[in-house]
Amino acid sequence: MANERKRPDPCSFIIFGATGDLTHRLVIPALYNLAASDLLPEKFCVVGIARKGMSSNQLTESLKKGLHKFATRPVDEAVAERLFSCVTAIEADPSDPASFDAMNERLDKLEKARETGGNRLFYLATPPSAFLPISRELGRTGMLKENGAWRRLVVEKPFGTDLASARALNAALLKLMDEHQIYRIDHYLGKETVQNILVLRFANGMFEPIWNRNHIDHIQITVDEKLGVGHRGSFYDATGALRDMVPNHLFQLLSLVTMEPPARFDAQAVRSEKAEVLQAIQVQSEQDALYNSVRGQYRAGRIGDTEIEDYLKTPDVKPDSTTETYAALKLTIDNWRWAGVPFYLRTGKALTIKRTEIAIKFKQAPFAMFRNTPVDRLSQNYLVISTEPTEGIELQFNTKVPGPTINIDGVEMKFRYKDYFKAEPSTGYETLIYDCMIGDNILFQRADSVEAGWQAVQPFLDAWKNAGGRDLQSYKAGSSEGPEAANALLTRDGRSWRKLG
Ligand code: BG6
Repeated sequence: MANERKRPDPCSFIIFGATGDLTHRLVIPALYNLAASDLLPEKFCVVGIARKGMSSNQLTESLKKGLHKFATRPVDEAVAERLFSCVTAIEADPSDPASFDAMNERLDKLEKARETGGNRLFYLATPPSAFLPISRELGRTGMLKENGAWRRLVVEKPFGTDLASARALNAALLKLMDEHQIYRIDHYLGKETVQNILVLRFANGMFEPIWNRNHIDHIQITVDEKLGVGHRGSFYDATGALRDMVPNHLFQLLSLVTMEPPARFDAQAVRSEKAEVLQAIQVQSEQDALYNSVRGQYRAGRIGDTEIEDYLKTPDVKPDSTTETYAALKLTIDNWRWAGVPFYLRTGKALTIKRTEIAIKFKQAPFAMFRNTPVDRLSQNYLVISTEPTEGIELQFNTKVPGPTINIDGVEMKFRYKDYFKAEPSTGYETLIYDCMIGDNILFQRADSVEAGWQAVQPFLDAWKNAGGRDLQSYKAGSSEGPEAANALLTRDGRSWRKLG
């Protein structure tokens, strides 16, 4: 999130996994959008690390096709040509160290010709098993040394599969380079509404005074998805909803909503506050974790006209799998601001609609004044920050129904991004890639935050593993709320999930 629009330094953008889905679907369309907004460096080249025998022309053709398929706006051929004119394919395989030496030499030559000054951004758009082998080769060949030029490494999620593996990955990467060179990406931080949480909280005088346990009853974070697991059976069955979504995406939302105000709007201050609040999430015992969570798996169903087959029939999913496609948790944050305020988080696949929202429920006003009136209840005061189905903010409050008697009803005040701002549709990766090129890591996760996130979910992972599937619930694909037991998680506290709007 730059303070001014400037072109980044000259650099080479080196993508590992250049022929993969992520590169075609998101990275190249984002680079195109940056090019269309004049936000790529003047001296720039894209290097795709491809399989043996793939020529630069073949790679370029494949990326071009990808751009036309996944572009978020009409493609201006002149801009696309400029971008693709600087694509080079290089082969490198971490199991063949000589290929990395050769790659280093090719990059040296390429950057002399392109005058990129030796700045290199390595983007790991690969399966996680390749993160470390590639990084080790980059380290061995000296490509991560910053001698006058910068060297940065973008690491996609998942960053580890539990606390121990995340710690090990951090430790191994930090032996090869400095923390400031590592950009652990979470695409949720590329979303406008997510970035806006800080502005909403800290650029307005009216919210912060009530943003605490004295006024907030509880907070719900919902990330519902319509899609089933589809073709990702092998990855998903080994991962599950909790690992896939919670320590990363949902905790990004949670930390922005709950962090203390940073002293400055800079990476060091913002990331420290985010890490601090994640570290304050109470680490539960396994027994508590089981009591405070619900996991579910979808059975066959239908969403609109689409039939969704039973999760267990998904290709590459074990027929007796206990992997959850839905997870709901209750957490607490052990600090002065949030003591006693429950946080309910839920995420699931194959639900009626795609919905991503943070709902902040304020405490009820005293009812006393309305005791001798026809009013029998006050509706709930919610502030809802949502990115799906629409990006915006909504406030729900009580108002008098017109008429001679006192009657009260809940109404909504809605702000939608698209009503006020005419932003070009984006992939969500533009800001993140641009920030990486200008060296601003405010939107990227630091090692301590990643570990704090895993630390908080580890008891749930352990509890579910040890329960061996006994607690696994099911829900019908296309249902609006996931398993019934997820409702009980709140009703036992006298609360309920916010209904679909
Ligand atoms: C990814 C998960 O990180 O996020 C996917 O691996 C999930 O399973 C996706 O579908 C959700 O992202 P978004 O932006 O569509 O909410």
